[in-house]
Amino acid sequence: MNEIIKEIEKLKKKKNAVILAHYYVNDEVQAIADYIGDSYYLAKLAKSTDADTIVFCGVSFMGESAKILNPEKTVLMPDMSADCPMAHMADIERIEEMREKYDDLAVVCYINSTAELKCHSDVCVTSSNAVKIVKSLPNKNIFFIPDENLGRHVAKQVPEKNVILNNGFCHVHVSITADNVRAIKEKYPSALVLAHPECKEETLKLADYIGSTSGIIDYATASDNEEFIICTESGVGYELREKNPNKKFYFAGTKHFCPNMKLNTLEKVCHVLKTGENAVEISEEKRLKALAPLDRMLETAK
Ligand code: 13P
Ligand code: SF4
Repeated sequence: MNEIIKEIEKLKKKKNAVILAHYYVNDEVQAIADYIGDSYYLAKLAKSTDADTIVFCGVSFMGESAKILNPEKTVLMPDMSADCPMAHMADIERIEEMREKYDDLAVVCYINSTAELKCHSDVCVTSSNAVKIVKSLPNKNIFFIPDENLGRHVAKQVPEKNVILNNGFCHVHVSITADNVRAIKEKYPSALVLAHPECKEETLKLADYIGSTSGIIDYATASDNEEFIICTESGVGYELREKNPNKKFYFAGTKHFCPNMKLNTLEKVCHVLKTGENAVEISEEKRLKALAPLDRMLETAK
């Protein structure tokens, strides 16, 4: 075993630590993680683990959510600058404006958001539970923040609600165009198109399946088809290939890399385990406000 992996294993035992990794991080980090998964799975795990320390290989909103759900644990981020630009793409003034305008409004906040935005929201969602949660809300009017594309995808499946969209987006997913998909489809006509709902509407229209990172992996694994065009970040390729060594996966687009997720490296995992640096901190007042919509998500999505 490589020296750094041995060191990580040793430190993990010593500190009773667990390593959680999102499917978008580098292959070698996914390979040493105790758990890999989509945002919903990782949030549930963060709440239920009995480890003393969680090393969260992902981006800030994930580490922050883990800390909000589990304040007595130490949550370490291998790189504190790994942030999701979309998490900041909504503003409090607009939320307040919407609350003024509609008396029957629920602010539905994609988990890819800052703790500050969560504090002003009624319920959180992830891409794997958004439709179920929005459907279950008693409110007619839904302000969906920050992602416009996920919001539109949800709105289509919940026609009984008035879903108001916000103009946030993920630069990685919007870079995957319909033309990119068509070009691959021309070469591999029997390939099925699997897309993440953060992609643009024109790209989603070409999809045979739309779902979260876990949804995409599970769909490809259960399918008898042998070829797939994947419309999401390249990191899911690791688990897709692990589970399906004989199937072929073609990634659409040329910019399907999330630079923030890729900041997580084995060296940084080892460093934070050794030093305890990069612990996520959040004031108790803010934590309690942001906890309410996260708890409501976990309760409703069960
Ligand atoms: P999921 O893994 O929940 O599908 O989320 C995708 C994503 O963009 C996380 O940043
Ligand atoms: Fe954010 Fe997009 Fe990266 Fe996910 S892939 S962390 S939404 S920038």
